[in-house]
Amino acid sequence: MKVLVVGSGGREHALCWTIAASPLCDALYCAPGNPGIARDAECVPISPEDIPALVAFSKQQAIDLVVVGPEGPLAAGLVDRLGEHGIPAFGPTAGASALESSKAFTKDFCARHGIPTAGSRTFEELDGALTHLRRCNLPVVVKVDGLAAGKGVTVAASLETAEAAVRAAMEHRSFGPAGDRVVIEDFLQGVEASFFALSDGTTTLPLAAAQDHKRAGDGDTGPNTGGMGAFSPPPAVDATVSRRIMETIIEPAIAGMAAEGRPFHGVLFAGLMLTDDGPKLIEFNVRFGDPECQVLMARLRSDLLPALLACADAHLRHVDLRWSDDAAVCVVMASRGYPGPYRSGSPIRAVEDAESDPEVMVFHAGTASDAAGALVSSGGRVLGVTATGADVASARSRAYRAVERIDWPDGMFRTDIAATGAEVTP
Ligand code: AMP
Ligand code: GLY
Repeated sequence: MKVLVVGSGGREHALCWTIAASPLCDALYCAPGNPGIARDAECVPISPEDIPALVAFSKQQAIDLVVVGPEGPLAAGLVDRLGEHGIPAFGPTAGASALESSKAFTKDFCARHGIPTAGSRTFEELDGALTHLRRCNLPVVVKVDGLAAGKGVTVAASLETAEAAVRAAMEHRSFGPAGDRVVIEDFLQGVEASFFALSDGTTTLPLAAAQDHKRAGDGDTGPNTGGMGAFSPPPAVDATVSRRIMETIIEPAIAGMAAEGRPFHGVLFAGLMLTDDGPKLIEFNVRFGDPECQVLMARLRSDLLPALLACADAHLRHVDLRWSDDAAVCVVMASRGYPGPYRSGSPIRAVEDAESDPEVMVFHAGTASDAAGALVSSGGRVLGVTATGADVASARSRAYRAVERIDWPDGMFRTDIAATGAEVTP
């Protein structure tokens, strides 16, 4: 098979690393990729947003499967355009991507299909939203409807903060059209977890659960980021909780999308709050999480490629995936300043030293090669230092030992990734 992976982050590196190991894979391309991905795939300089160029490349190379990493091209219809040319793709159509690209759609969808989630109301007018806020209990959660690169959610402890979030979206239009509608939702109390399942439109296959760390600073302080680290499995999601998540959230969602004429193919990522009242949906994403994907791929023991293909051609019922009982931990090394302004182009050394441990894998995200071919930083999140171990505690200490070996003075990382998971591990 000839496979094209779309994207250039740590998630796409983990996918390329896994797919490259498949005996079914004859040729692997990544658009646009990065220097780490270049070890596993041939990088082609096409932007994930350039749909016509991705379609043309796939036709020209007779690609057998396109695996789409990020949500942007999914919501923009990449899978639909590829389908028009007979090119199979892993990922949902634009219509099915509404589960991520519109929070208002998703809230209504959950209500239609009895999927447990926080109570909410959606507003299209500033005045209505502000009036409603005054009647809400605090804390309250304000979300812009559309895609906002993880920045569209405000958990507000005060009315002033909540009002400012509504005004930012609807009055100052800080999120553009993504903020035309705003969802105001009840605050859920509990433990957060991410759960992943594959679907071919009708059949579902649970993957595994993970927990990520969204805040920039230790102790969950500082601004929200794309994710500063992740670990799997999270102790709160045992077999019973997994079954309940499948039965009350994933399966009704896949059946509901099929019934509404938007069958969902790809990976459904449920961001959950495990409450006293059972698991409740915080949000759906229609792609793998980053850095959750890195820890999932580190724990996967089966060939991923047939499973991805089965999602595209509706054969998922024939697929079974095995997972290691080992745990995996990913510590993200980011440019100092991220998620605010940071500088790019600073040299990163000794990544090979970190990788000398066979249980360590360093996934690249914002990296580049300078004119002399040396590795330099080129983004906010730069490396995902991932380690496996018999339990979360040992994977965690191995990951941090590897982080310490990397010579990158401009980098920063959280020191408490997976700390809670490590404490509770038996
Ligand atoms: P999201 O971008 O939708 O993943 O939201 C970012 C973060 O906001 C989540 O990871 C949660 O920590 C928090 N959050 C979102 N919705 C709620 C809610 N209804 N109750 C409590 N926390 C929430
Ligand atoms: N790590 C969260 C996400 O990928 O959305």
